[in-house]
Amino acid sequence: MERQKNEPLSIFETDTLDAVLQKSRGFIKLMTYYRCAMMEIETKFKVLNEHYSLEHDRNPIQTVKTRLKSPISIREKLQRLGLDMQVSVIEENLHDVAGVRVICSFVEDVYALADALLAQDDITLIEKKDYIRSPKKNGYRSLHLIVSIPIFLANEKKEMQVEIQLRTIAMDTWASLEHQMNYKKENVFPEHLADELFACAELAHALDERMNALHKETSKTK
Ligand code: GTP
Ligand code: MG
Repeated sequence: MERQKNEPLSIFETDTLDAVLQKSRGFIKLMTYYRCAMMEIETKFKVLNEHYSLEHDRNPIQTVKTRLKSPISIREKLQRLGLDMQVSVIEENLHDVAGVRVICSFVEDVYALADALLAQDDITLIEKKDYIRSPKKNGYRSLHLIVSIPIFLANEKKEMQVEIQLRTIAMDTWASLEHQMNYKKENVFPEHLADELFACAELAHALDERMNALHKETSKTK
């Protein structure tokens, strides 16, 4: 059909728009489920923080941050894996759509919080990567957990996966700055810069070790 000269341009023909809405409904629903799972995990950490502050008179958690992977990042990751952008494919293959980052005061808090979370009977551990005991080659440190947690909807219960990163303030400082400079365009650093970044990671680690030792010493005398 010939378009009239002054007729406004329509983005979708009616049937295409319906199809687009139909497809995006499933995606939006899935993202809502991930957001709910993230909220559950965030609350669990906040509850643990309250408990510690009652028991030990201090907060082991500095901040809890949540992020939902953007549709563009989801598509990029699926493309990298050679997979289709489909709701079931996302659910089965991506473990980091919902992300929770817990910034802790001391290294021992990282492990205490991870253990306390994993001991809860609605949490299932899918994968654990301890980049603190075994740091990455570039110096990156954090404890990564992929867990599954149920969310309760009106008529159903759904298990959702969440990626949790636990790290100290020093580890977070290093990772945030390194991320701004490089991450994703992996290995682009010239050797001397990579060496310097690694040295900074070791400095951050040394700071963590010394602060942790100080903390142990001061809590003994309390
Ligand atoms: P991705 O495909 O990036 O998710 O990697 P992966 O599935 O092998 O998981 P991994 O546990 O190694 O890393 C997951 C997340 O940890 C990343 O998305 C980053 O948020 C963080 N991360 C891992 N390595 C680094 C690093 O070298 N530097 C920084 N800044 N962050 C990192
Ligand atoms: Mg990831």
